[in-house]
Amino acid sequence: MASVSVDEAMRRAIELAARGLGTTSPNPVVGCVLLDADGEVVGEGFHAYAGGPHAEIVALAQAGQRAKDGTAVVTLEPCDHTGRTGPCSTALVQAGVARVVIAVPDPNPVATGGAATLRAAGVRVDLGVRASEAESGNVAWLTAMRRGWPFVIWKYAATLDGRSAAADGTSMWITSEAARMDVHALRATVDAVVVGVGTVLADDPRLTVRNLRDGSLAIRQPLRVVVDSAGRTPVDAQVRDGAARTWIATAAEVGAGPDGGVDLFALLAALHGQGVRAVLLEGGPRLAGAFLAAGLVDRVVGYLAPRLLGAGPAALVDAGVTTITDAIDLEIIDVTQVGPDLRITALPRKREG
Ligand SMILES: NC(=O)c1ccc[n+]([C@@H]2O[C@H](COP(=O)([O-])OP(=O)(O)OC[C@H]3O[C@@H](n4cnc5c(N)ncnc54)[C@H](OP(=O)(O)O)[C@@H]3O)[C@@H](O)[C@H]2O)c1
Repeated sequence: MASVSVDEAMRRAIELAARGLGTTSPNPVVGCVLLDADGEVVGEGFHAYAGGPHAEIVALAQAGQRAKDGTAVVTLEPCDHTGRTGPCSTALVQAGVARVVIAVPDPNPVATGGAATLRAAGVRVDLGVRASEAESGNVAWLTAMRRGWPFVIWKYAATLDGRSAAADGTSMWITSEAARMDVHALRATVDAVVVGVGTVLADDPRLTVRNLRDGSLAIRQPLRVVVDSAGRTPVDAQVRDGAARTWIATAAEVGAGPDGGVDLFALLAALHGQGVRAVLLEGGPRLAGAFLAAGLVDRVVGYLAPRLLGAGPAALVDAGVTTITDAIDLEIIDVTQVGPDLRITALPRKREG
């Protein structure tokens, strides 16, 4: 087999890491490619679920003796602590690896230190290869670890004139089946799906991952969270069907914000404490407005259907904006056509002060 460059190996490791999206929390996604002393690929691995083997250990097991004097190319600094599995830094040293190439350092104070341990054992360590690519592949986990609360993606569906339902309240379905399948794929990458009680009362959604495009079943269902100050979620609501874990987050349990609703900062802190690193906020317009007004949305994913309603509720309500200079500006990072609809992915620009 031909030898590959460290850069190519990192590109592959980033691809491998992505396979773990949605199933590794509270751990990160990590990919690893092991090259032997001649630069041939002798092992590949990714972290699939918390408690399972880390990417480096999977790749080392495949490589066996051929790891000796080789290079481990890994998307995140190898861990240096014993949790449910042993430290990867030690495993790499014991396997006789000569060089470790890392894309991004580990911000987790519990696990960091792998690079120092490797260097102390005489292993050459290089940091920063394809760092921004690896960072974006692991953005939810890295953001959550650095600041202590989960990464929040607000997803909505609307007509081209920004309506989330018709004037009579009917909203099924605004977007195409292709777009709805795309949402299931997005749900499969997060740890929790959050809605307001208004959406539960209006639509009675299930909020589970279904209909994955490749026909596979979700390995793990995200936690379903209903933000419900006074506990109005009906006893027979579909979110209580047992198909996935559900948390009805009331103000009594989480704490109340200034307007009497559930305190959203406390909600995110509590979710972080439960191991949630990535949240998909699926509405409705009022809860999304409250999240945006509080500056708690990290990414917006809008599905826009080529339809017009001319009347009906807006996709977003009360986001704390009353004048044009206060508009929440977004930077579009992707536009993709999904069936007949457009999926627009954007980042809220950080506000001054
Ligand atoms: N097109 C889409 O993408 C989409 C997605 C979802 C929903 N929808 C539509 O949206 C409509 C429902 O919207 P909605 O705005 O009434 O419901 P919502 O945003 O799902 O829920 C709002 C409710 O959440 C509760 N809440 C608790 N804490 C809160 C806080 N801190 N901030 C804000 N709300 C808090 C409040 O009820 P309590 O005070 O009782 O707790 C509030 O009335 C439905 O017609 C549905 O079809 C559309």
